[in-house]
Amino acid sequence: MSKGKFYITTPIYYPSDKLHIGHAYCTVATDAMARYKRMCGYDVMFLTGTDEHGQKIETKAAAAGVTPQQFVDNIVQGEKGILDLWKLMNISNDRFIRTTDDYHVAAIQKIFRKMYEKGDIYKGTYRGKYCKDCEAFWTETQLVDGKCPDCGREVQDAEEEAYFFRLSKYADRVQDLLENTDFLEPRSRVNEMVNNFIKPGLEDLCVSRTSFTWGVPVDFDPGHVVYVWVDALFNYTTALGLFNDKYDDYDKFWPADVHFVGKEIVRFHSIIWPAMLMSMDMPLPKKVFGHGWLLLDGGKMSKSKGNVVDPYLLAEKFGVDSLRFFLLRTFPFGSDGNFSNEALIQTINVDLANDLGNLVSRTVAMVQKYFGGTLPETQEADEALDRPLMEMVSGLRAAYEEQMEKYAFQNALAEVFKVISRANKYIDENTPWVLAKDESKKARLARVMYNLLESIRISAALLIPFMPESCTEIMKRIGADDYSWDSLDRFGVLPANVTVTAGEPIFPRVDAEKALAELEAAAQAAKKAALPALEIEPFAGESVDFDTFCKSDFRVVKVKDCQPVKKSTKLLKFTLDDGSGTDRQILSGIAMYYKPEDLIGKTLVAIVNLPPRKMMGQESCGMLISAVHTEKGEERLNLLMLDDSIPAGAKLC
Ligand code: MSP
Repeated sequence: MSKGKFYITTPIYYPSDKLHIGHAYCTVATDAMARYKRMCGYDVMFLTGTDEHGQKIETKAAAAGVTPQQFVDNIVQGEKGILDLWKLMNISNDRFIRTTDDYHVAAIQKIFRKMYEKGDIYKGTYRGKYCKDCEAFWTETQLVDGKCPDCGREVQDAEEEAYFFRLSKYADRVQDLLENTDFLEPRSRVNEMVNNFIKPGLEDLCVSRTSFTWGVPVDFDPGHVVYVWVDALFNYTTALGLFNDKYDDYDKFWPADVHFVGKEIVRFHSIIWPAMLMSMDMPLPKKVFGHGWLLLDGGKMSKSKGNVVDPYLLAEKFGVDSLRFFLLRTFPFGSDGNFSNEALIQTINVDLANDLGNLVSRTVAMVQKYFGGTLPETQEADEALDRPLMEMVSGLRAAYEEQMEKYAFQNALAEVFKVISRANKYIDENTPWVLAKDESKKARLARVMYNLLESIRISAALLIPFMPESCTEIMKRIGADDYSWDSLDRFGVLPANVTVTAGEPIFPRVDAEKALAELEAAAQAAKKAALPALEIEPFAGESVDFDTFCKSDFRVVKVKDCQPVKKSTKLLKFTLDDGSGTDRQILSGIAMYYKPEDLIGKTLVAIVNLPPRKMMGQESCGMLISAVHTEKGEERLNLLMLDDSIPAGAKLC
């Protein structure tokens, strides 16, 4: 019997770049919550998708020489695109919406028209500042140092005919919603919204643009496209079937039980979104939960800053489940957390390899060693020796549930790991290897094993939402068929004569030093790959007058000898025939680009009327001319070499 419906969403992601681990954080959290609710017996709808319109996409597509649709198709469906990433991360979404889907576009037009007909959308002139990257309008007072308060980038002056949504009309109702209900969590975000945005006065919101075309057209006023956030926010309802025939789940699932969103988009979800729903006379979502950011070196990961962590790389190296687990075990969901490879490896080694992995492999190995893999009849539990563990294990589901219902993933996992540690301690307390030596203690030994298997069954089952593959495998190994929700607050569900199966370690220990070195090498390679293929120095702004230029005496020179300069890693010493009859010596800092012996006999160009100067105690009379550019971040240098038929001393002019 279903416990009811549960509708949960992630934000829909911008397909403007490949996603990074920060994006995966929110989706993994949503997935864990959706799986948990399914396990509890709810009828779950888990929605994610992509937010594909807007100026940023239009600009990027133009730069890439493709249409905006081709551009987003590639990032959404292409190799290692968004769909691939969610498959890799084992995301169990029930639906995936793309805002370029026809049914969504048509529904947005109807929604826009409805708010217009109601008088909540009206035509005016927009004057203000626009951040192209965040697709956000700002008033002068909201800017920070004249820049976008969210991303810190330059904003543009914008003035155009536009439609406005009467956000101001709903200010009081929204404030009441935020202050007097649990609509927005964590609570700390409420003050931020009320003090920074509502109290200073909510201005009406510009909800159409005419300066670009990649958006949902306003059907009654061609030339206007709907503001991308209006288009995006309503995805949560069009994906259920609002104003379309594609789906028919609106009545069943709306309002959403919770929207998980990153902290920088809480403003859109807790002010603009409820106000628009009020205008549409639609029920409000029950909750918006604003989670923190994954930081790297203290700053938000972002592709433009070049500090992103690639989930593909980590999943490939450490396994998807370990990565999913790490994200939710390490950082409190409502706050920011600093990502580091060290912390990831430590969590894998301590929690997974040592605590959980060892508990499973030791227990299974002992059942095999002492009982050939199948437990015999056990004796009754011992009040003093067993009861504390058994009570803790049967109370785990309630403690875990309490935390999960608050979206406190980290705390829920801490509850599970308390039990895992306790079970490991129970092995040491009961010394099965001593019991095994005494035939009369076999039934007691079987009891100890059974208690361990039950502890594993309940704790690992509660970890399935976080690590679906590995923990389902644990259930197989310990012979657990029943690990349904109802079986998880009861100790003693495994059959007495349960059979276990051994296997490879589920969570292998990571060699930290080796893994860190490999990750560092991969990060360097990725950084290099992201560098521009070719860079040339900008042309000089300042001009040189013709007579000055003509004073430079460039001559063809032949290399008679070339030697490294002692104690210098950079310098080569050239003996040159410059056509004058007297050898010329030039020192040149090009030792990292050429082997001296390769240059002997070459025909080069030198400027010969520079004043002589001393380098490493040797005189250099002139300078060899070379071409310099940068490729993938590395400086390249090529000596100017001429046809050998040109005689030494020939003047370049
Ligand atoms: N398209 C909008 C959302 C529209 S929802 C109606 C958007 N997209 S986004 O791709 O830029 O971000 C999607 C989500 O990823 C946001 O919730 C954002 O907070 C989250 N994250 C992006 N980088 C992140 C971290 N470094 N850490 C945690 N979450 C991060 O905003």
